[in-house]
Amino acid sequence: MSLAPQDTALRTWVRRLPKAELHLHIEGTLEPELMFELAARNGVALPYADVDAVRAAYQFTDLQSFLDLYYAGASVLMTEQDFYDLTMAYLRRIHADGVVHAEIMFDPQTHTHRGIPIETVFAGLARALREARDTLGISSYLLLSFLRHLSQDDAFATLESALPLRDAYQDLWIGIGLDSAELGNPPEKFADIYARCAELGFMLVAHAGEEGPADYVRTALDTLHVARIDHGVRSSDDPALLQTLIQRQIPLTVCPLSNLKLAVVSRLADHNLAQLLRAGVLVTINSDDPAYFGGYLLDNYLACAQALDLSHDELVTLAANSLNASFLPIAAKTRLLDQLTLAATQA
Ligand code: ADE
Ligand code: ZN
Repeated sequence: MSLAPQDTALRTWVRRLPKAELHLHIEGTLEPELMFELAARNGVALPYADVDAVRAAYQFTDLQSFLDLYYAGASVLMTEQDFYDLTMAYLRRIHADGVVHAEIMFDPQTHTHRGIPIETVFAGLARALREARDTLGISSYLLLSFLRHLSQDDAFATLESALPLRDAYQDLWIGIGLDSAELGNPPEKFADIYARCAELGFMLVAHAGEEGPADYVRTALDTLHVARIDHGVRSSDDPALLQTLIQRQIPLTVCPLSNLKLAVVSRLADHNLAQLLRAGVLVTINSDDPAYFGGYLLDNYLACAQALDLSHDELVTLAANSLNASFLPIAAKTRLLDQLTLAATQA
């Protein structure tokens, strides 16, 4: 997408706004170049001739058509260094976009089911996140996400294998998520493990209302007791649910370019993000799986600004929403919101 000169100015201005990314799958940041590098390093055969062939395969018709490639791509991640390289590349990229805080989902089952120890995954991610905190000034948290196409028993086994690591990663691992194939895997399938994770003091989020119906958003709230909904764009099908989201100020972590790529909407101009925002829903903009969907966080802001005619004030509200909807302590939120107010007034 080429930008007119006035859009380049807008990009610079939005980049300077301190922003949080709250819906990001680290496995979804695997760029084809790194995929090939890691495949060579680990002796993994890829079914593609080169990076162009990988990119050419990114023609998705729905969520499942994406997930098939996404899980296949993750097969090159084997060592602690691989997880570090993946995470560091993402953090460097978002640093350039003006992201100051990231809450990052990872799917341990995608790796443990291939024989990769969960300790390896945690160690690689954490080394990069701590280094980025110290060198780039980006803070971050980890959300361990269960794959909903697998059983709740499998999720429990994953939780049990991760809990002994909790102390070592208590600065990072603060929450639990639920992702993968939504239709046919409703939130209530995971009611028991979410109850257990609540008892353990984890923050709770879940994907709902991406491809699944508004009712899944309702059950994620009522049965899983999540603090945030990932996606949630189908909520607008249910006016009473929408009122609940507005009254309780439940954040939605919306991913516009993802929704476009996965045919949740056919044109970005048809996306309901602006309507939700203007109705008073606490919506945020996020990138989901940026290596697969053609844009990192700043690209998502800019694409929405253009397609939905968002005003400067609305862009600032979206950045403020991202900070407010984060799991950061109140003092950190206040400091970043003050920085945002200052940045927004600078030309
Ligand atoms: N895993 C990675 N990206 C996802 C998405 N958009 N929806 C569900 N699961 C995912
Ligand atoms: Zn997602």
